[in-house]
Amino acid sequence: MSVTRGLEGVVATTSSVSSIIESVLTYQGYDIDELAEHASFEEVIYLLWNGKLPNKVELKELADELANNAEIPQEVIEQMKAYPLDRVHPMGALRTAISSLGLYDEEADLMDEAANKRKALKLQAQVSTVVTAFSRIREGKEPVAPRTDLSFAANFLYMLTGEEPDEIAVDAFNKALVLHADHELNASTFTARVCVATLSDVYSGITAAIGALKGPLHGGANEQVMAMLTEIGDVENVEPYIRKALDNKQKIMGFGHRVYKNGDPRAKHLREMSKKLTSITGESKWYEMSVKIEEIVTNEKGLLPNVDFYSASVYHSLGIKHDLFTPIFAVSRMSGWLAHILEQYSNNRLIRPRAEYVGPNKRQYVRLEERN
Ligand code: ACO
Repeated sequence: MSVTRGLEGVVATTSSVSSIIESVLTYQGYDIDELAEHASFEEVIYLLWNGKLPNKVELKELADELANNAEIPQEVIEQMKAYPLDRVHPMGALRTAISSLGLYDEEADLMDEAANKRKALKLQAQVSTVVTAFSRIREGKEPVAPRTDLSFAANFLYMLTGEEPDEIAVDAFNKALVLHADHELNASTFTARVCVATLSDVYSGITAAIGALKGPLHGGANEQVMAMLTEIGDVENVEPYIRKALDNKQKIMGFGHRVYKNGDPRAKHLREMSKKLTSITGESKWYEMSVKIEEIVTNEKGLLPNVDFYSASVYHSLGIKHDLFTPIFAVSRMSGWLAHILEQYSNNRLIRPRAEYVGPNKRQYVRLEERN
């Protein structure tokens, strides 16, 4: 047996949802650069789930269905109010609440294709409601009910603040959602596929995926980037801070990637957005600090920023609390997870690799009373 640590380079499945070929990311064959410029998040959801871009009627239908399915059971809201609000991380809350939604869905364990698609729609619609409701509940506020007349991106920001967001914020948020929607066999998507390949249900697959996304080596990195920027505080502190961190062999969050060695194609869009939004808010320092960090890390280590690096200053500029950055990643990636889950069900085989055993061998059992 030969072991491939971290499964690097291992091709574990076929998929038509998204591809990374020569550092170009496509969703169902459409270059992410074009989608980021032109597509609404709803169009991308449709694309990922149906393999084609929607026409106007199909898009309206999906948008209406998402808006009409966005409410969550009152029981789940009451449960969130009972979470230990002073210390629970919103990713923990999201993981638990999504799992809980499965308990209130009569179809949770129905495995036919139509039922799985209905669950996908509900989960995509409800994830925004869960994230925003939790955010408000922990601030002692009541959740804001979703509106049926707003886009997915606008609805999220509206439910978060209770105020209708302006066009710049909606456009930026929509673009961020488009850019995070899917990414081939990333760790959380793989987790989802492993889970449902046992023929477990959609809620279990998504709950497992959220758990994987939460880690700082994956989706949790965006929050850590903002923590680093906050700690650095000012452009003039960047150089000593980063050099010390590199000397101490610390990982710089938001840099490096398992697959992209020539740069993450999503990062440039977020870099542009960061530049624009931080200048609008009058806090260009976050962008300037980020650029300086990029310069040093790239020169010193040859590492380039990934999707999480500039998304931190983008979300900060939108007035979003730092510990909601990763839940927002989940709101977007929900679309990709669901596409992969449906694909896995459609051509399933249990995912069960092997481990090379390196523990002790041939040991003799010693009875408890004879052990010292
Ligand atoms: N900062 C400093 N050094 C780094 C970084 C970094 N961000 N990333 C990799 N390296 C170094 C490692 O220390 C290692 O050096 P060594 O060979 O001297 O030991 C070498 O580069 C290879 O790194 P690995 O961790 O083995 O690379 P791997 O492919 O396993 O990990 C990962 C990829 C997890 C993304 C890594 O680059 C990392 O930890 N980055 C920071 C966390 C992060 O930004 N995660 C988000 C990724 S994108 C996403 O999931 C949405």
